Amino acid sequence: VRAWRGLIEEYRELLPVTRDTPVVTLLEGGTPLVPAQRISQLTGCEVYLKVEGANPTGSFKDRGMTVAISKAAEQGAKAVICASTGNTSASAAAYAVRAGMTCAVLVPQGKIAMGKLAQALVHGAKLLQVDGNFDDCLELARKLAADYPVALVNSVNKYRLQGQKTAAFEIVDALGDAPDVHCLPVGNAGNISAYWMGYQEYAASGMASRRPRMLGFQASGAAPIVRGHPVAKPQTIATAIRIGNPASWDLAIVARDESGGAIQSVTDRQILAAYRLLAREEGVFVEPASAAGVAGLLQAVEADPGAEPLVPRGSRVVCTVTGNGLKDPDWAISGAPAPTTVPVDAHAAASSLGLA
Ligand code: F0G
Repeated sequence: VRAWRGLIEEYRELLPVTRDTPVVTLLEGGTPLVPAQRISQLTGCEVYLKVEGANPTGSFKDRGMTVAISKAAEQGAKAVICASTGNTSASAAAYAVRAGMTCAVLVPQGKIAMGKLAQALVHGAKLLQVDGNFDDCLELARKLAADYPVALVNSVNKYRLQGQKTAAFEIVDALGDAPDVHCLPVGNAGNISAYWMGYQEYAASGMASRRPRMLGFQASGAAPIVRGHPVAKPQTIATAIRIGNPASWDLAIVARDESGGAIQSVTDRQILAAYRLLAREEGVFVEPASAAGVAGLLQAVEADPGAEPLVPRGSRVVCTVTGNGLKDPDWAISGAPAPTTVPVDAHAAASSLGLA
């Protein structure tokens, strides 16, 4: 046994790094692939959760950020910038600290979860709240990176997807082959594209004998790919995927079509039901956006009478749960009964717990 070295060292020969690349890492990757007993029971499938909230800053963004910031350091960058619904900014802020760079982040005002805001601030990022949505923030970040000496680390930076593809490698390494189906949430559409890249590379090199069908899920109020046109005012409680004009739209379509998959929408109600199911039945606390992939799987095993469901019983399925629930605790607290206060008294505590 040896300790996990971070994904650049673990997958070095499959990544665009050289001996001259300074490795900026928080030892990201190597996240748990947890068998989901209750969801397997409910769907008749063999379901696993790739728990990306276990990464150093609590989301899958760290996979892309270790590569993007390492390459920026190699190229001599002193400052990085990103637009974000919260997780990219948290990750960029932390990795910029490791690299000794300054970090600027643009977030949609009032529309990012408190924990993510805290992360950007505690790591010392320069935070601008933009009076607009994520799509406006990204447009602004692109302009600033084009005109000023600052490197863009959104997923339009090709090194981001290179890092993120390693999650697919880890899944194949753990299962011995690719699953039948891979489900995940879709926002800016980078992650579905990165997974597809990873699965394809492993199949091409003989590390996997096949490739999964990619099933991506958008929130119904922010589902531009499903609708086939940008959404000007995207709305969803899943703020991480509140995006109306995804940057990696074309790549996501390729992933969908080449894999024989689908991109569908799920309602906020379905997302919250899956969020609670994950917490209460699987013991896995995710942020709301992360539950969209599981909500999508629950939808995809249902079919009209006489028709085949999108995901048949017996399928081996991996759902990526993309971010940690602690980032956005509001939804956990709002649905729960208020806690009871008791005096320092065993009898009172016992009766309040229904034990006495
Ligand atoms: N889940 C979470 C928790 C996310 O933060 C994001 C994206 C996604 C899913 C969707 O992934 O964009 O690759 O399709 N968050 C970005 C951000 C937009 O700024 O943190 P995607």
